[in-house]
Amino acid sequence: MTAAPEPPAADPITVLLGEHRTILQVLDEVDRESRRLETDGVLREAFWHDLLQFADVFDAGVHHKKEEALLFPALERAGLSASSGPTAVLRDEHGRIQFARDRLASALQARDRLRLVTTVASYVDRVRSHVLKENQILFPLARRLLARDELDGLAQAFLALRASTDVGLWLAHPLAFEAGA
Ligand SMILES: [Fe+2]
Repeated sequence: MTAAPEPPAADPITVLLGEHRTILQVLDEVDRESRRLETDGVLREAFWHDLLQFADVFDAGVHHKKEEALLFPALERAGLSASSGPTAVLRDEHGRIQFARDRLASALQARDRLRLVTTVASYVDRVRSHVLKENQILFPLARRLLARDELDGLAQAFLALRASTDVGLWLAHPLAFEAGA
């Protein structure tokens, strides 16, 4: 009796698009919570700590790593400039998103509601426009530039990266549940 063949890994661009959908759903929830905070002044600290954990474990810890360590280098091997092309711009935006996340964390630590609302708005805007840019520019470019075997290699590497992280812990969080991750 022979072993069943391994199921094929999902198309890597489809995987990243799915992660973007999760990120956008979380941002919608963050918008709602920020409006509640503005209206009734109640600071639900657990919600904001969940958001920071999402930003660190899922967004920076898994999603950005797939892009920065695997997809971007594959695109640069296929001809994009590492210093001035779209991947350079998007790497820089990942740094700016991290900066916005740190400002949000600092406002939360100070329990400064007004500053939290302001920093959340800038974090949400920054991440939304970044996701849109990747969806509309980078991913169609990746589908044009990368050959089937390169996409297959990326799909396998994505699986290995995800298996090596503790993203499963995050998926047990209420925020992830609300976002349907
Ligand atoms: Fe992304």
